[in-house]
Amino acid sequence: MANSPLGSLTRRSKTSGTNTSEMICALDVGTTKICALIGMVDDKNSLRIVGAGRVPSKGLRRGMVVNTTDATAAIGQAIEEAEASAGVTMESAYVGIAGGHISALTSKGVVAIGRNGRKITADDSQRALEQARNIALPHNREVINAVARAYVVDDQNGILDPVGMYGYRLEVEANIITGATSAITNLINCIHANGLEIDDLVLEPLASAQAVLTDEERQAGVAVVDIGGGTTDLAIYLESALWHTEVLEVGGDHFVRDVAAGLRMPYDKAEALIKQFGNAVPDLVPATSEVRVGSFGADGQQMVNQRLLAEIISARAEEVTELISREVRRSGYDGLLPAGIVLTGGVAQLAGLTELSRKNLEWPVRIGRPSGMDSAVLDLSSPEYSTSVGLLQWGLTQGAKPYVVTTAPTSLTWKRVVEFLRRLLPIPTS
Ligand SMILES: Nc1ncnc2c1ncn2[C@@H]1O[C@H](COP(=O)(O)OP(=O)(O)OP(=O)(O)O)[C@@H](O)[C@H]1O
Ligand SMILES: [Mg+2]
Repeated sequence: MANSPLGSLTRRSKTSGTNTSEMICALDVGTTKICALIGMVDDKNSLRIVGAGRVPSKGLRRGMVVNTTDATAAIGQAIEEAEASAGVTMESAYVGIAGGHISALTSKGVVAIGRNGRKITADDSQRALEQARNIALPHNREVINAVARAYVVDDQNGILDPVGMYGYRLEVEANIITGATSAITNLINCIHANGLEIDDLVLEPLASAQAVLTDEERQAGVAVVDIGGGTTDLAIYLESALWHTEVLEVGGDHFVRDVAAGLRMPYDKAEALIKQFGNAVPDLVPATSEVRVGSFGADGQQMVNQRLLAEIISARAEEVTELISREVRRSGYDGLLPAGIVLTGGVAQLAGLTELSRKNLEWPVRIGRPSGMDSAVLDLSSPEYSTSVGLLQWGLTQGAKPYVVTTAPTSLTWKRVVEFLRRLLPIPTS
């Protein structure tokens, strides 16, 4: 544990008295975009988003860092944009993590409350989770999140929140999310290189679920599926608790590559074409409709039949819905999802995807968008912001026990403060 990237994390409570103490920051390092949000927490513990930075992603593939220089620069740019719009300098952030290296298992933790019994405190439930988290793993894997599924107080089981109950013994059954140490370290290093600490690393579908699911859906049984640029992240909730997570290595990037290869056009033009004219169901598109788009070659233009475009997209969309269906059935909870599937992430905006999913998936389907978040900056109602908004909500709800990395942040923190001041004041550079 000593050499592990998360091994040096310790708990702290929220600091106060500084300018940034009422601010929390979310950093969604996605395959397509990097999004930083800064939220101001008021005295009623509600959040208002006051800063946002969104830049195209660089140095990432399938949700993982593959080029630290590029990823570091892009992360820095997103943070700076968010800081400039909020007018603050952040010291730490809640950071999303995904990728095919993620896996999950269940574990139990037990703590004694005392020979005479007493009221269970938040600290007791945290101790129980720590016990559950304390599992033997290969040296190249790390625990990212430990999420309680249910608690048992003495002989009473199925308790979601034991705090305030009287008991002698507290047991927790928890989902333990693990990831490859190398992938985690690469991500952490890119963030530290920007002088930023990490409040908590959060599995991305857990953040998305936080932003888009209703309490009723979680109680009834629901799967949230975030289809991003590089990965499709899934989380299943039953009786208000997390039961299953999976990261599938398929996403919008596959659609774009299919169209770019099929219609012989540059990647960015193919992506724009899908967004504007794409459809997952060819029958929903007029057979003769043509659109003029950019292409390779001398004149750089071509006419594309919209039905043909939809046919290329639908082949991939059929595959993605089949993978989702297979994964939900593989989880074993397929019969326990009356609230069905909530699709979110950028690809959830694809025209016709809801119709196709309703046909191919045997559960009710809806598109999930972040809601209930007051924003003074960006319009955050698009499904592509579910993870970012959910990270802020995670920070707000788990904020009493954020993690902070104890290793000293690089001197870049000061550099960033000076850079920020320089933007405001004309400080000479030499
Ligand atoms: N209207 C649209 N129709 C189809 N695809 C879309 C639309 N809008 C965005 N996309 C696709 O959504 C993807 C980006 O989604 P998102 O922003 O959720 O990804 P990300 O968070 O960067 O990636 P990941 O979470 O997989 O690492 C891109 O592949 C983009 O082409
Ligand atoms: Mg994402």
